[in-house]
Amino acid sequence: MHWIGRRAEDKVRKVPRLALAVAMLFAATAAPAEELPRLESRDGHHALIVDGAPFLVLGAQVNNSSAWPAMLPKVWPMMNRLHANTVQVPIAWEQIEPEEGKFDFSFLDQLLREARANDKRLILLWFATWKNTAPAYAPAWVKLDNKRFPRMLNAKGETHYALSPFATSTLEADTRAFVRLMEHLKTADPQNTVITVQVQNEAGTYGSARDHSPEANRLFAGPVPEAVRKRFGKGPGSWTALFGRDAELYFHSWAVASYIDKVAAAGKKVKPLPMYVNAALPSDPFVWQDPNTYASGGPAPAVIDVYKAAAPNLDWLSPDIYNPDHKAYLGFLGQYARKDNPLFVAETGNARHYARYFFAAIGRGAIGFSPFGMDETDYFNFPLGAKALDEATVAAFARNYELFAPMQRVWAKAAAAGKVWGAAEPTDPAAKFAQVLNLGRYTATVTFGRPQFGVDPPKGNPSPSGGVAVAELGPDEYLVTGFDARIEFARAEGDKRPLLFDRVEEGHYDKGQWVFLRRWNGDQIDYGLNFTGARQVLRVKLATYR
Ligand code: DGJ
Repeated sequence: MHWIGRRAEDKVRKVPRLALAVAMLFAATAAPAEELPRLESRDGHHALIVDGAPFLVLGAQVNNSSAWPAMLPKVWPMMNRLHANTVQVPIAWEQIEPEEGKFDFSFLDQLLREARANDKRLILLWFATWKNTAPAYAPAWVKLDNKRFPRMLNAKGETHYALSPFATSTLEADTRAFVRLMEHLKTADPQNTVITVQVQNEAGTYGSARDHSPEANRLFAGPVPEAVRKRFGKGPGSWTALFGRDAELYFHSWAVASYIDKVAAAGKKVKPLPMYVNAALPSDPFVWQDPNTYASGGPAPAVIDVYKAAAPNLDWLSPDIYNPDHKAYLGFLGQYARKDNPLFVAETGNARHYARYFFAAIGRGAIGFSPFGMDETDYFNFPLGAKALDEATVAAFARNYELFAPMQRVWAKAAAAGKVWGAAEPTDPAAKFAQVLNLGRYTATVTFGRPQFGVDPPKGNPSPSGGVAVAELGPDEYLVTGFDARIEFARAEGDKRPLLFDRVEEGHYDKGQWVFLRRWNGDQIDYGLNFTGARQVLRVKLATYR
């Protein structure tokens, strides 16, 4: 991989005029394949490659009904205040194909133009067969025609609100529209302003673990497809025989995942952008939950492996995390940060206390993070998220992105090598306002709610706001940054050699280059490295004298 140095915006490349003219001609017709955004995974670590190098999505998602031309002036100011580099925007099936076979991409064209003018990348959210499990965003000619596009049946044989994943008519219509969308992107977006596409939104179904239509019943009684049973190391058998309690959940997840995979595969044939789906999570990451009580069939933690078997065209599965509890939040991050699945927090609450989880996410190698409902349309999904986007709430998220924007490439490269760690301030008393990072040769203890000077024990910040991020840049050398926290380094257990700072430099990154500002020494290092609300980035070299 030749990541550094290939980025258009980081380096002005000297290209002969003729070559430039040829390249521009080429760019006008098709994106050069190697420059398409893509996911790269190596040794269980991941990078979203954008413009040829690892890219950290400093994202934000607009409200559901903000994807209209008249709303965009209320979107960009917020995105700029946030220092976001990527905006997630719905593209609704009903909006692009209001009448069957007649397509309208005028909103998308305007969105592309305005995103470029605001220096933002885009992640499009395909709201179609499933949006929070329902077909509300399917065009009227789909959602009102239950004969041609049948809904599921529940266990009692009653019509359920969600569309059946077994209806080929629905799959074909959704796929046709999605393909048209990708065709439009192929010609209208040669510069890949759109870096990724989410296919459907919170798929699955509430209130019925699976479809009970005749076709669904027939398949449920039949054998488990080979790809699924092999993933679980099982021989041939029925869903009930192989998966017992989870049979209906796994079956429905396989059905929904297979459907989405076909839509994604058809879209990728046109323009192979990274594609993913997002999960409406069960309430607790640590206990088994009856699939009748959450969005059964969606990419929930319990069925990640079913999705991996059924949907090879999805580059990753994402959690939508609206549980503010520290333990639960880290639990969900852990479930999606896998060797075979890059962590991308596709949605999270926009209340202030969620902002610090940015550090926990990127410290687990996340390729992106994105609070939901970030625009100035005056809608707030309280109590799920913030009551209002007041200055302090926006600032809580904005400071993270402002800190990372100049060095997101440096960070993403370290993440791709598996050399990043992070902590978010805990609230559960058992954690004692401390988090320990295992850096391999060292440990780092992060504490919250202490003065910058002295050894007063951590009390936690007045409201949980602290976070720290650490990246290994070279032997014994770390990039360290954060807010409202103290970090102290120690040698890993068993290593008795003394530890001291060779040097602690404060500075910042400019186009990938470190710019030195000053050294920290004396009071500034005697009680750990203390971060306040100030934007401070450190390069720390650890050493011994024996
Ligand atoms: C999760 C969904 O994916 C979003 O589109 C939105 O409906 C939020 N829930 C709630 O605001």
